[in-house]
Amino acid sequence: MNVMAWKASMLAMLGLVAALLSYPTALSMAEASLISMPTEDVHRGHAPVVFLAESLTPDYYADSCPDVRGLVRSAVGEALQKDIALAAGLIRLFYHDCFPQGCDASILLAGAESELQMWPNRFLQRAAVQLIEDIRIKVHHACGPVVSCADIMALATHDAVLKSGGQSYLVPLGRLDSLEPAPLSTVSELPLPTFNISQLIEAFESRSLDVTDLVALSGAHTIGGAHCTSYADRFAGEANSNEFVRMLLHNCTTGDIRDKQDLDVTTPNKFDDKYFGNLEAGKGVLNSDMQLLHDPRAMELVKGIAENQWWFWNQFDTSIRKLGQLQGPQGNAGEVRTISCSVPNHKSSNVGEV
Ligand code: HEM
Repeated sequence: MNVMAWKASMLAMLGLVAALLSYPTALSMAEASLISMPTEDVHRGHAPVVFLAESLTPDYYADSCPDVRGLVRSAVGEALQKDIALAAGLIRLFYHDCFPQGCDASILLAGAESELQMWPNRFLQRAAVQLIEDIRIKVHHACGPVVSCADIMALATHDAVLKSGGQSYLVPLGRLDSLEPAPLSTVSELPLPTFNISQLIEAFESRSLDVTDLVALSGAHTIGGAHCTSYADRFAGEANSNEFVRMLLHNCTTGDIRDKQDLDVTTPNKFDDKYFGNLEAGKGVLNSDMQLLHDPRAMELVKGIAENQWWFWNQFDTSIRKLGQLQGPQGNAGEVRTISCSVPNHKSSNVGEV
């Protein structure tokens, strides 16, 4: 490339990075009104709003829907055979449901005030939301309206892990579906990819999840992808010195901005421990991934897991079960949504209006 061409491409690149970093300000007023970028103080100084429930049990549907696990598994298997990228969509959907106010399927509710309209959820896969509803229809057809959407999400997440090459883990059941979506203030407590390690640890601790859970659950980034806007902060300091970051930047500047970058650059569709080896080699895509090397406890886990896949299976098993047990301050209160996972029962007569 000659000097002029190089200068032109650098200018284009800087323009793009500036655009990426100012992305929220480029949204329409309507979209902007839904956006709340958490400040650095968001996680400071308030008590945990979410705790670990103890009331769930593996045989909750033993009488009312004994084959619920089989029904969900075959539906997920069928969907993933058509599109394996949905596995990542299901897992992330579950995390974004559970973290704000517990695993209550509040993320699935439709409408103007819904969580799906909120800034932290803009990249959640809508096809994963639809898949949960498709599974609910099958399960309710077989057993009647007895299984909650929240439990279907927990089971579908397990099956997505399994079908992408991960190990099985216990999924206790008995969650109820929320009557309302979570408020924006709570959804905005989902940690950002720009967070440093202290902010990440603090955010997880606010949900009764420790640094071990943070590392193991970040391992879900062994599948799926990220949009350029999610890792644009990587270009700020490192771009010139780091070949991997230059590659990320190149993809963002030359490709379609809607394309996603694999989060695990070694085995992108396989639920294995390669993500951790990537981090050690400086090849984590998100800033929050790379931040796991900036705390001695987290780094020790990253190293250990990179060398021993069984460590990952065991710890992921424990940590995803903890994530799946999160409940809001109201406890396990709610209902089994009977008409649709996107509509609470009290609004079911207005389904056409939602
Ligand atoms: C530690 C804090 C975390 C941060 C800051 C974070 C952030 C992100 C971001 C920014 C993306 C890319 C979104 C996009 O651009 O499309 C992403 C993708 C993803 N995240 Fe996380 N995440 C975190 C933890 C988790 C956890 C705990 C899980 C699940 C247990 C998870 C599962 C996923 C999956 C599977 C994807 C890929 C989604 C897809 O391809 O559709 N993440 N995450």
